[in-house]
Amino acid sequence: MTIGFIGAGMTGTALATRLWQRGYPVVAVSSRSLSSAKRLASFISGCTVCDGPQQVADIASVVFITTPDDVITDIAAGIRWRPGQVAVHCSGVHSTDILEPAGRYGAHACCLHPLQTFAGIEEAIDNIPGSTFAIEGDEAGLAAAREMAQALDGNVILLKAGDKVKYHIAAVTLSNYLVALMKTSADLWQSFGIPQDEAVTALLPLLKGTVRNIERVGIPGCLTGPIARGDVETVRKHMAALEEGHPENLDIYRVMGLKTLEIARAKGRISIETAQETRDLLNGPGEAPAHDPDYLFIRR
Ligand SMILES: NC(=O)c1ccc[n+]([C@@H]2O[C@H](COP(=O)([O-])OP(=O)(O)OC[C@H]3O[C@@H](n4cnc5c(N)ncnc54)[C@H](OP(=O)(O)O)[C@@H]3O)[C@@H](O)[C@H]2O)c1
Repeated sequence: MTIGFIGAGMTGTALATRLWQRGYPVVAVSSRSLSSAKRLASFISGCTVCDGPQQVADIASVVFITTPDDVITDIAAGIRWRPGQVAVHCSGVHSTDILEPAGRYGAHACCLHPLQTFAGIEEAIDNIPGSTFAIEGDEAGLAAAREMAQALDGNVILLKAGDKVKYHIAAVTLSNYLVALMKTSADLWQSFGIPQDEAVTALLPLLKGTVRNIERVGIPGCLTGPIARGDVETVRKHMAALEEGHPENLDIYRVMGLKTLEIARAKGRISIETAQETRDLLNGPGEAPAHDPDYLFIRR
């Protein structure tokens, strides 16, 4: 197996570097700009900087297209593939359907999606080993993807093409919305005079402690706080303060509170009556179905 990369951004550079460190020959790279291709090649010895996708595909047997999702198909369509080659993309939301132009030449196709967040080149290289990798594709493509993921100490998850959108929603909800939650918290700190960077520094140990609890104790046992304890008056105080000073945060507090309430019920420390009272508070005025006392609903 010889590996080439088209698109030398964060994902391409990190995967190329780590695969090369694990003994895979990463032999060719091209990118929109020469500088990005040269930067990737600088992490690896024996990697040729090519003048375009075709040259990469002419040299390598496994070709990663690690460009933005929207141009993957066009790039694949512009290449004369060889039968038996493997075309790979790393998109979380798309299946291998977008590599169909490679299939027309008899090339195999797979998606190797690192379930990870890459915010910069160094961070991406650090984050790769031990990540979960979702793989999808044809038989030969899957075999190559599994082998490479395992070489990166990855936890391999096999997906079907139709799973990808839901899989990606889950990833975005966790990773991107966690950033949005951090920003929401830090914004509240600014309202009592603490700037965002200081707030983030102060909040990070709480975030890390929460992640450790999820890892060690699991859901639902890791849940703490007023909803898990059944402190309804605390929730009431929160809602009143938000209504008065930060109404823009009420919806997120309500929606996340109702999800939290589901977990609190599963943890089993609060009674049905307390759960109902909390639910009604979070929902505001409205009727819950009488037949199901545990039913949670969101006011529209
Ligand atoms: N970032 C993440 O957290 C993450 C995580 C998992 C999967 N992914 C997936 O990884 C893939 C790449 O994402 P990324 O975040 O690494 O993107 P990125 O850092 O923006 O890198 C994309 C690279 O593609 C190059 N490029 C753009 N258009 C091109 C074209 N027409 N021909 C050749 N090269 C082109 C860019 O070129 P120049 O630099 O040369 O201008 C850039 O280096 C996507 O499929 C994405 O869904 C990303």
